[in-house]
Amino acid sequence: MPELEEPKWLSGAVGYEIYIRSFADGTGTGIGDLIGLHDRLDHLAWLGVDIVWITPFFSSPMADHGYDVADYTGVDPLFGDIEDLDRVIERCRELALRVVIDIVPNHTSMAHSWFEAALADPAGPYRDYYLWRDPADDGGPPNNWISHFGGPAWTLDEKSGQYYCHLFLPEQPDLNWRNPAVRREFVDILEFWFERGVDGIRIDVAHALIKDEQFRDNPRHPDTADLVDPRDVFHSFEHTYDLLQPESLDIYREWREVADRYDAALIGETYVLDVPKLAKLLAGDGLHVGFWFSTMSMRWDAHSIRHTLREPAEGIGHRVGWVQSSHDESRPVARFGGGDLGRRRSLGLCVMLMGLPGVTFLYQGEELGLDDADVPVELRDDPIATRNAGATGRDVCRTPMPWEPGPNLGFSTADHTWLPVGHEQSDTVAAQREDPSSHLRQMRSLLELRHGLVGMTDIVEWPSTPPELVAFTRDDHTFVLNATDQPVQWTPGGEWQIVYRTAGQPGESGPVIELAANEAAVARAH
Ligand code: GLC
Repeated sequence: MPELEEPKWLSGAVGYEIYIRSFADGTGTGIGDLIGLHDRLDHLAWLGVDIVWITPFFSSPMADHGYDVADYTGVDPLFGDIEDLDRVIERCRELALRVVIDIVPNHTSMAHSWFEAALADPAGPYRDYYLWRDPADDGGPPNNWISHFGGPAWTLDEKSGQYYCHLFLPEQPDLNWRNPAVRREFVDILEFWFERGVDGIRIDVAHALIKDEQFRDNPRHPDTADLVDPRDVFHSFEHTYDLLQPESLDIYREWREVADRYDAALIGETYVLDVPKLAKLLAGDGLHVGFWFSTMSMRWDAHSIRHTLREPAEGIGHRVGWVQSSHDESRPVARFGGGDLGRRRSLGLCVMLMGLPGVTFLYQGEELGLDDADVPVELRDDPIATRNAGATGRDVCRTPMPWEPGPNLGFSTADHTWLPVGHEQSDTVAAQREDPSSHLRQMRSLLELRHGLVGMTDIVEWPSTPPELVAFTRDDHTFVLNATDQPVQWTPGGEWQIVYRTAGQPGESGPVIELAANEAAVARAH
């Protein structure tokens, strides 16, 4: 099958993830919402992003903060109503921002009418929307699959005596993607949103939809007894049978036909850390873009960084969704050493991600260089933390966005916010806009530079460098990162002018590129 044209607007675009609960509260409830988002969209236009990805705002009991959807076409009153969403879409149009929404197809909420019907009538048509199995011989779960959020991936329905499968919370039953009726439901859901003006979807756990038909046990790594975080326990298994089944591509082919009619994009949350396997979900007429998550677990040294960037750049090219942060992970500033060191490194990595072909996503607050917030145990709200003793969970990266000095740093007028405001006045958008050397202003200049790259070749060369550096060239630009805590000089051959740098002013030219510790720079052949 010939490769289909991707939506033109996707090419070289920069995306921005809005974690809606924590972006802006427009109604004084202490929880972010659509009106709040609408009123803050100017910030994104000023920053220079192209795509706004909004995390789930659908009707939900919020067991997993909206990733447990009870109605895929209804807006939860906590976030507003569908007219508020229309206003967001309209304002995005005015600001030339594309709107991507989050579709959660692996599972519904247990409060979804399909699951309620499946429980109420085991002989009815909705039963087969989900994955049911009889107990094992000992009465326990039918196999050894486990949930990302702790415990088995199976919960017993006492009434029918069968277990249902859930790769996340028991409140998030997994759908049966081998059932054509489920497929038809989602085609309708996609059409509903594309008709409404949405430009694309981010597909939650896009690698998980289809499960092994025989529900075989997953192999397990042997030395994992002491793991505390349920996500680490999850990764101690080989997910041979519950993830990445080859039939997944068929689903995305079907969706692609729908998306292409609307010039819409399919962007997968593909937690697949192996390039050839990830490439299979993207093949030709599959997903347009798949996230590459190895940046979240790589070590900070030139060898690891080069390997983490080069493999997908060579294997997947412009279909990579580059990310270094999200609402699910400790912030990169914290992962890369914390404080100014972490900030410098994270910005340096961002320069490299912006230089490569593909779509690069920022997560809210990344443009401010936010560190993880301190969320006391008793205030934690993420089910990973509240249901697993000793697990930190994801609240540290989900605290309210700091906008300006004042109550709740401008996030909300409420007395209490759903998570504590974890940042300082100096972190706020307002404070950083005033300071020409701030992280925010550096990020904005980087996005300006990135837009100048649209139309460049997708061919990336990886020249040899001193071992401390990671570098690649695209057309006449070289992107280079010093991954050490010492200054490094590099003479790549030829004359270069520095057009962007993360420490100090650009402008110098000559044969030698000098980089401060953990600095990244962009040089143009002179
Ligand atoms: C994805 C989401 C995460 C959610 C999970 C279950 O990984 O990013 O926040 O908890 O899916 O839907």
